[in-house]
Amino acid sequence: MRQYRDLNRLNWNDRTEIHAKSKFYDVDAFLADDAPRIGLDQEELGDVAGRTLLHLQCHFGLDTLNWARLGARVTGIDFSEKAIALARSLNDRLGLDARFLCSDIYDAKEVLGGEQFDIVYTSYGVLCWLPDLDGWADLISTSLKPGGIFYMAEFHPVTFMFEPVDGELKIADSYFNTETRQYVSDVTYTGDDDPLAHPVTYQWQHTLSEIVGALIGAGLSLEFLHEFPFTVFNMYPGLMTQDEQGRWRLKGNHHPPLLFSVKARKV
Ligand SMILES: C[S@@+](CC[C@H](N)C(=O)[O-])C[C@H]1O[C@@H](n2cnc3c(N)ncnc32)[C@H](O)[C@@H]1O
Repeated sequence: MRQYRDLNRLNWNDRTEIHAKSKFYDVDAFLADDAPRIGLDQEELGDVAGRTLLHLQCHFGLDTLNWARLGARVTGIDFSEKAIALARSLNDRLGLDARFLCSDIYDAKEVLGGEQFDIVYTSYGVLCWLPDLDGWADLISTSLKPGGIFYMAEFHPVTFMFEPVDGELKIADSYFNTETRQYVSDVTYTGDDDPLAHPVTYQWQHTLSEIVGALIGAGLSLEFLHEFPFTVFNMYPGLMTQDEQGRWRLKGNHHPPLLFSVKARKV
């Protein structure tokens, strides 16, 4: 699995350079407007002021810095050294005190050296990069103080079954196919045309019961599991509409779950 993750890391380094200039992430707007952004995850997690928060797979840190703007004392972890370098420079430009660590999720326990947090957070496009959810859940449990909260908002695993073909959503893969999947795409999801030098990635499907089961197995107690008919980007181009809150839904009357969220507590 290590060689797959190394190839994924090269792909994420390429993406970071493109994402940093993209309209999708709009770094200039983030730097210019210091009002924290309130989306689904901020609404559901609630007040974080003064709490220590570990953000897993933080990419180049915009969400992490947003939590810092909301008053949390944040640490972001990601395995892309380009993403972490950019996150650190954005933190310096904003004069915040976020800490960013470069580490694979599966090495993060050693990197954190037993440090524990009030909150562990992760979101939007993280689990498909992880071959082993038990190792991920163990990291979450180990990194939480007793009574601490884990929160995630993530693309629903059902969404990985579908592909837009000729203006319709077709079933393209099995919900239960957990084998290593190879994808080749020379562009990223931000809508930019710049080609990726490392277009091959490896990803893994995890069903909802496997995700929740891994968290329970690591000793967390579930507080809620929510499913939503909207998502945070134009996941199926040509088949979605965006509402005034910026949320994307499938056109028509049939709505599969597009996002889910979980809140769990370390007992
Ligand atoms: C879709 S992004 C999450 C991004 C976040 N929602 C955002 O839009 O900023 C996925 C992140 O996972 C990171 N990642 C993938 N596999 C990883 C691993 N094994 N260990 C640590 N980070 C990993 C990538 O570098 C990337 O930054």
